[in-house]
Amino acid sequence: MTTLFVERSLDEVRFWSRIMKEHALFLRLGFTVDQTQLAQEADRYYRMFEEIEEKSQQLSVDTDSEQMARFNMEAYHATAHIWSFKRKVLDLILTCKIITNNYPLLVDHTSREAAYFMNRLEQLNKGTLDPVPDAIINENVFFLRVMADHAKFIGHLLDPSERDLVAQAADFSYQFDQLLFQAVDLESMRPQSQTVPMLGQFLDTNRVSVRSLRDFKKTAHELIEACRIRSIIHPLLADHTFREAERFLLIIDMFEASLVPEERGKAK
Ligand SMILES: [Fe+2]
Ligand SMILES: [Fe+2]
Repeated sequence: MTTLFVERSLDEVRFWSRIMKEHALFLRLGFTVDQTQLAQEADRYYRMFEEIEEKSQQLSVDTDSEQMARFNMEAYHATAHIWSFKRKVLDLILTCKIITNNYPLLVDHTSREAAYFMNRLEQLNKGTLDPVPDAIINENVFFLRVMADHAKFIGHLLDPSERDLVAQAADFSYQFDQLLFQAVDLESMRPQSQTVPMLGQFLDTNRVSVRSLRDFKKTAHELIEACRIRSIIHPLLADHTFREAERFLLIIDMFEASLVPEERGKAK
């Protein structure tokens, strides 16, 4: 139990602290030269999460569970701060006090990811380690929206002259909006919708689409790195969205494994 708690905690903190660090960088890069204070604030968050990330790499699975719980709280507080910074930036954009090179939806998106991370840390410290039935639909609603947003960001940050790639991104955007609505429908049909065959089918459908979006992101990342396409996408942003898709796939697999195997077979 203790080892599982430390293992899960380290996995979440390592993954999400890097993500938070990169969000700070993306926000930083979006500010204009005169927005020095906001840029400095973003830099501070970058260093803060870099430290948390380094510290999490130094900890091992043998870490004492109390020490782990304290470290989770430390990560929680840092994330609560970056969350309010992101919401402040969103407010400045939406009230037209600043113009930045980041879309409002991207800023909102990164704040949703921060809120998700905080929620995970809270759950871990409360002892919720294994997937609960409600989590299957909730996590899919969260991640499908994240994927739908990514498709939109990629589509809007590619150069308009990249007609074919822009069209492909628009297709993914549509496909994930549909999957998201489907997940929201299942959400309101709860608890009756939470049968093993129904959830199994739901996970299978989502997995197929996430895999193809992940491959699209991987290709986009490689093309950007090799300077073969025109866009204003930072290579790290392409890789960042790729890693988030991989994360979603891992979560889908974990949920799949939690469904009763014999019943799962019948659903096919
Ligand atoms: Fe992100
Ligand atoms: Fe994201």
